[in-house]
Amino acid sequence: MTGASPRDPIRDFSRAEAIALDATDPLARWRDEFVVPDPTLVYLDGNSLGRMPRRTVARLQDVVEREWATDLIRSWSHWVDKPQRVGDLLAPLIGARPGEVVVHDSTTVNLYQLLHGAAALRPDRPVLAVDEHDFPSDRYVVDGVAGATGRTVRHGFDRLDDVAVIVRSMVDYRTAAVVDIAAETARAHAAGALVVWDLSHAVGVLAVDLHAAGAQLAVGCTYKFLNGGPGSPAFTFVASELQGIVGQPIWGWFSQRDQFAMGPTYEPRTDIAGMLIGTPSILALTGAECGISLSADAGIEAIAAKARSITAYAIDLCDHHGLDVCTPREPERRGGHVSVLHPRAKELTAALIERGVIPDFREPDVVRLGMSPLTTRYIDVFDGVGTLAALVESL
Ligand SMILES: Cc1ncc(COP(=O)(O)O)c(C=O)c1O
Repeated sequence: MTGASPRDPIRDFSRAEAIALDATDPLARWRDEFVVPDPTLVYLDGNSLGRMPRRTVARLQDVVEREWATDLIRSWSHWVDKPQRVGDLLAPLIGARPGEVVVHDSTTVNLYQLLHGAAALRPDRPVLAVDEHDFPSDRYVVDGVAGATGRTVRHGFDRLDDVAVIVRSMVDYRTAAVVDIAAETARAHAAGALVVWDLSHAVGVLAVDLHAAGAQLAVGCTYKFLNGGPGSPAFTFVASELQGIVGQPIWGWFSQRDQFAMGPTYEPRTDIAGMLIGTPSILALTGAECGISLSADAGIEAIAAKARSITAYAIDLCDHHGLDVCTPREPERRGGHVSVLHPRAKELTAALIERGVIPDFREPDVVRLGMSPLTTRYIDVFDGVGTLAALVESL
């Protein structure tokens, strides 16, 4: 067993067992909150792009027809601080407090801003650290900021005494392995380094508690497990003790203290809105708001419990079929996807998609099976893993 809850029945890997697991899933009803045009599609890629919530359709229609078409410019009276309001909605999902999160721009932009701002707080430290296997944007941003600030990049986190800032993902985008953010933040702070956490594959699937972990800076996506929609804006978290201390390199009017005074010089706000840049995309932000509200309504502890259970089921099923899983087996040490290694992973992924099973492929040899607790059923996992196993068998 790989950490399924004790109340799960003994696994016999039958179709009936998967159906029984869905019948007792406390989150099963949340799937009805989403638009599912093709119920036969086995969608195992909600960790890249979450499904579309029904409430998003209704809300976007209202924003377009009433707030935009009818109210026109008058809507800016409540749109103007929407990035902060949506941030407050997201805050409890990551253990942040009101006023510590803002939803805006993309994860890449937000990471660039925070890394620049954090590095400026450690001017005498010549190194930025990142995992050489971390998500490409994260590595590229670190390389770029290092170049622009005259620093070098170190791959790995063993030596920290000369490190200004660490950029690190809480959940590995390929294996789903989880980093102990409390232990690693404490170790970094003890060495005098700051850490910017990338929560992209953790938010909306794990019960992250940034304050309990002592974390001060973080970013992450809203279009994955938070179901915000394609390109929905990312978030920035700055713990209250660093607000007004961490600056940012992109000086725009949305972070200006008295925005509409149109003053001659930049005087940044010292609250979380100091991270804003320019006019937010209200439609995209509305998508993020709807997705985040769904996760908040369902409850992050319940979501995280299902993630542990359904990934355990997937791992057991993979083991049963003899597939090579590289995702950690301890439930507390993995996120919401299960990765299968195979030298012909790319070909297998294409063949799965042809058969109505959508996972994704990550170089060089990973088939990623993403399980979104609010929408993925045990029967989807049964069918998806079964189809993968049959394809591997037929190679
Ligand atoms: C871990 C991680 N960091 C950063 C990004 C980049 O996000 P964006 O393209 O929204 O800037 C992604 C995108 O998938 C990601 O998975």
